[in-house]
Amino acid sequence: MAAVTIKTPEDIEKMRVAGRMAAEVLEMIGEHVVAGVSTAHLDQICHDYITQVQKAIPAPLNYRGFPKSICTSVNQVVCHGIPSDKKILKSGDLINIDITVIHEGFHGDTSKMFYVGHVAPHADRLCKVTQECLYKAIEIVKPGVRLGDIGHIIQQHAEANFYSVVREYCGHGIGRVFHEDPQVLHYGKPDTGFTLMQGMTFTIEPMINAGKPQTKLKPDGWTVETKDGRLSAQWEHTLAVTATGVEVLTARNEERF
Ligand code: MF3
Ligand code: CO
Ligand code: CO
Repeated sequence: MAAVTIKTPEDIEKMRVAGRMAAEVLEMIGEHVVAGVSTAHLDQICHDYITQVQKAIPAPLNYRGFPKSICTSVNQVVCHGIPSDKKILKSGDLINIDITVIHEGFHGDTSKMFYVGHVAPHADRLCKVTQECLYKAIEIVKPGVRLGDIGHIIQQHAEANFYSVVREYCGHGIGRVFHEDPQVLHYGKPDTGFTLMQGMTFTIEPMINAGKPQTKLKPDGWTVETKDGRLSAQWEHTLAVTATGVEVLTARNEERF
């Protein structure tokens, strides 16, 4: 990964615009997430919105060979699910939609969980606890906090709820580069790791499993699933470290920070 970069106030303003655009895609797509729709159809809607309405670029498309514009990760898929016209959503499914846009050279990266119709109480609970993991981590971000503190608070909350934290994938610095240093692990020990500084921009994107933490990569080279086949959830925001705390660059209207 590229080195840690500190963004200027002008860079952060561009990140704010890109982040807001990524959030708006998630706000736009919600009403389309219904039983009977294919994940390729969701990809098409997002692709057209990003390119034609926002005049932005969908970062995943052709990124290291990824073939689509968004990631759609259903049920036991942990992350990087490839939209497909063969994958039809059914009532009771959980789906993470992960959107990354590039605007004026800067990236905004965010994801959330959607429910297809009504989902089982255990699935709802996994999604809520995973979102709490993200929110608890965001709450402590400020200059001087260390990445181990962030990992620890996520791991602590997940494991207190008898869930597990995926180890093989992590959050990341972000800016002109999609994935840059530092790596932001979702587990760790307090008072360890890189110390946050004003002007850093990075993602936190915990992947939390109902069962064991292990994952396996499908033969398509992208789709990551839980090894035990149980559910996984993920939520992601892009953040900027301010002088005194944090700004959530990908906040949606339904959220208050
Ligand atoms: N948006 C993902 C992340 O949060 C990365 C997707 S890479 C892709 O970092 F190639 F799968 F799109
Ligand atoms: Co990310
Ligand atoms: Co993402």
